[in-house]
Amino acid sequence: MSSEELLRSFSWICRIAAALFLAWLLLSRVASAEPTPGTGVVPTAADRAEAREVYESTCVTCHGANGAGDGLGAAGLPTKPANFTDAAWQKTVSDDEIARAIVGGGAVVRRSPLMPANPALASKPGVVAALREMVRGFAKPQS
Ligand code: HEC
Repeated sequence: MSSEELLRSFSWICRIAAALFLAWLLLSRVASAEPTPGTGVVPTAADRAEAREVYESTCVTCHGANGAGDGLGAAGLPTKPANFTDAAWQKTVSDDEIARAIVGGGAVVRRSPLMPANPALASKPGVVAALREMVRGFAKPQS
């Protein structure tokens, strides 16, 4: 390979790398511009009722009836579900992160992928907001 050929292939490699970088930049911008379902949404009474049903049929298995992370399914998990009743834990997560974890699963917020995604909720921001209220509500003293 002559030095000219070498230079030409190097320049192509650079161009491809630059194109890939631009594509990545563009895609990550698009992804981060996507609004989180349920942020700034006030749930209706129907949303709250649906959220309770979703919690009792799905989330309760791992997170437990009182959100303490002691559902029957939690025992076998290597990463335990968060304890929602722990005020210290509540401070570590933003509302946005809770909503994204509920819809996209643990992996999208760099937590355990054992927290499953709920893609069906992506089109139900009110229900996501109501589930987030429930998650936050578990921390309040139960009377
Ligand atoms: C198969 C068990 C399982 C089910 C079902 C489940 N979760 Fe989780 N969830 C987890 C685990 C495990 C974690 C802890 C992830 C970690 O900390 O790495 C978690 C974490 C979370 C978190 C905290 C995320 C964070 O950023 O720390 C929220 C909020 C949450 N779950 C809400 C829900 C809701 C609402 C449902 C029902 C729609 C649900 N989960 C269903 C296992 C589950």
